Amino acid sequence: MNNTYYIIDFDSTFTKVEGLDELANIALAGSANQEKVVSQIRSLTEQGMNGEITFSEALSRRIELLKANRSHINQLVDFLHTQVSESFQRNEKFLREFSDHILIVSGGFKEFIVPIVTSMGLKEENVYANTFVFDAEDNITGVDQENVLAHEKGKVKLLSSLKLDGDVYAIGDGYTDYELRASGLANRFYAFTENVKREKVTANADHIVPSLDEFLYLNKLPRSQSYPKSRIKVLLLENVHSVAIEAFKREGFDVETHKGAMDEEELSEKIKGVSILGLRSKTNLTKKVLENADKLITVGAFCIGTNQIDLKTCTEKGIAVFNAPYSNTRSVVELAIGEMILLIRNVFTKSNQMHAGKWDKSANNSFEVRGKKLGLIGYGHIGTQLSVIGEALGMEVYFYDIVDKMPIGNAKKCRSLEEVLRVSDVVSMHIDGRKENTNVFGKREFEMMKDGVIFMNLARGHVVEVPALVEAIKSGKVAGAGVDVFPYEPKTNSEPFENELRGLPNVILTPHIGGSTEEAQEGIGLYVPERLLEYMNNGSTTGSVNFPEVQLPLLRDSHRLLHIHQNVPGILAKINNIFAKHHINIIGQYLKTNETIGYVIMDISKGYTNEFIQEIKDIDETIRFRMLY
Ligand SMILES: NC(=O)c1ccc[n+]([C@@H]2O[C@H](COP(=O)([O-])OP(=O)(O)OC[C@H]3O[C@@H](n4cnc5c(N)ncnc54)[C@H](O)[C@@H]3O)[C@@H](O)[C@H]2O)c1
Repeated sequence: MNNTYYIIDFDSTFTKVEGLDELANIALAGSANQEKVVSQIRSLTEQGMNGEITFSEALSRRIELLKANRSHINQLVDFLHTQVSESFQRNEKFLREFSDHILIVSGGFKEFIVPIVTSMGLKEENVYANTFVFDAEDNITGVDQENVLAHEKGKVKLLSSLKLDGDVYAIGDGYTDYELRASGLANRFYAFTENVKREKVTANADHIVPSLDEFLYLNKLPRSQSYPKSRIKVLLLENVHSVAIEAFKREGFDVETHKGAMDEEELSEKIKGVSILGLRSKTNLTKKVLENADKLITVGAFCIGTNQIDLKTCTEKGIAVFNAPYSNTRSVVELAIGEMILLIRNVFTKSNQMHAGKWDKSANNSFEVRGKKLGLIGYGHIGTQLSVIGEALGMEVYFYDIVDKMPIGNAKKCRSLEEVLRVSDVVSMHIDGRKENTNVFGKREFEMMKDGVIFMNLARGHVVEVPALVEAIKSGKVAGAGVDVFPYEPKTNSEPFENELRGLPNVILTPHIGGSTEEAQEGIGLYVPERLLEYMNNGSTTGSVNFPEVQLPLLRDSHRLLHIHQNVPGILAKINNIFAKHHINIIGQYLKTNETIGYVIMDISKGYTNEFIQEIKDIDETIRFRMLY
């Protein structure tokens, strides 16, 4: 073991929070001025950390405000056990192994620090912190003034008295940690920014470390991550939902976000060094941008479509692309249900009359949906959910799908489109937008329907011939229509909407918002990072739009090699030969291909040499090689 001492701060470094702030929260819970006092305490903590007021002043003023007792400390300890910083949790092994050389030096209090750090393998005698003074009723009345840490430059005085023999590295988030370096007692100061980032502290640091992994990596110490995740750059554009940003931050990645889209030139610059890119529909990921993408491993489209992405180039470069095809299913279904009820009740016509000053109270042409026949064209994700909710409303559901689909609940499968159209009171389109579906619904199909049918298209504009629908509405064949999608849709909100459906009675027109809800956005924000993280951490490509799909078992006690190559015959044989030559045993091997690429995954347990890795990388057809631990 080397002769280096690691001086680690506790509050906001070892744990994510400030102990005294949390103690105040607990002690003042339920009291009328809780918020005010806690915020005063927070502000004093911050001023102390930034070096704006002296440490001892910050400490004594906070204790005065606290009004806490011993039972509150017990509650605080329980809470702090749940608040150990992620990277400290990950690297408990390092803490245990180096416990003789790790000193916790803190302006906080032993009463809550010792139970936490000793539970992670550190030694009580290596904890240097303040202690509280209690009265006979166990109320905290002050701080032990004998302790140097209760005073100005306490950490410096303490460290000087320890006379450590060896190099000293200080890790912390506060100004008092930096002072160890400034005083010459520590050789290096690492500003720890996993929980808080303070300008005044980072400005003076030898290194800024976003996690303990980064510190261990820089110092070649044993660690749980071979390559710190904080070195993996994530760029998220177009205001993706905050749950997505959180997911990447939790993972320990270095996340940068941008509210808007980026044009080709800007993105070509920004993409350099980025491993994970998230975008929505307004950013074009072009060949030129991809040429500059030197580190890009995967792309998440936080939307349904991927037309804005040059998928061919992504595939050729071994970049896996994911999207969120089904996160808005429920939103579309709810709009369809709402429209169906409004249309069959003739609510829109009546509402428009009311706006024009006309009172027409009558039951004519107003129906319930209960007991009516709902005909679904396309029984995929949306069709099946609508089927369930339609039945819950008391409707009889009929469906037609070109693929043989299992009926859900009591829905009836029809053998032909005509069979559905002949029986249904409400017809709803839920087929996909493939080219062959262009104008599949025209004059002939409308003629097959019952007179006075309600018709809805929330699928894709080009699947229905609009003039045929207009004629069916004008003739009374269709008594009401709900249309959310159009063969041509305005590109921006400032472009006017031109369509023959405008102005027709009992027709609800919506600007392609079937899937546009806050919940759907959140759903996308949850779904896409899961796919990307699964690919990054495990190699699985489930749901990828351009990679062969592989669902891999979790990685346990082995190394996983991911090899992406051009799909030509003989690659697997080449790989296996290299394994045989180096006597490396394969525990699991998976191969999937598409027209362009092959994706081989190999789990190995034995040690390997750099020559072995190099030979795998040197296979001519290799596009990308990645290794997971
Ligand atoms: N309005 C919106 O904002 C919005 C939002 C999401 C989805 N959508 C659209 O809704 C439609 C359905 O979405 P999904 O997620 O259920 O898709 P999906 O792929 O799960 O289901 C489509 C189903 O239609 C079937 N199908 C295809 N062509 C057919 C045909 N000619 N006749 C009968 N069945 C046919 C398929 O076999 C499949 O079962 C898609 O067109 C999608 O683009 C619209």
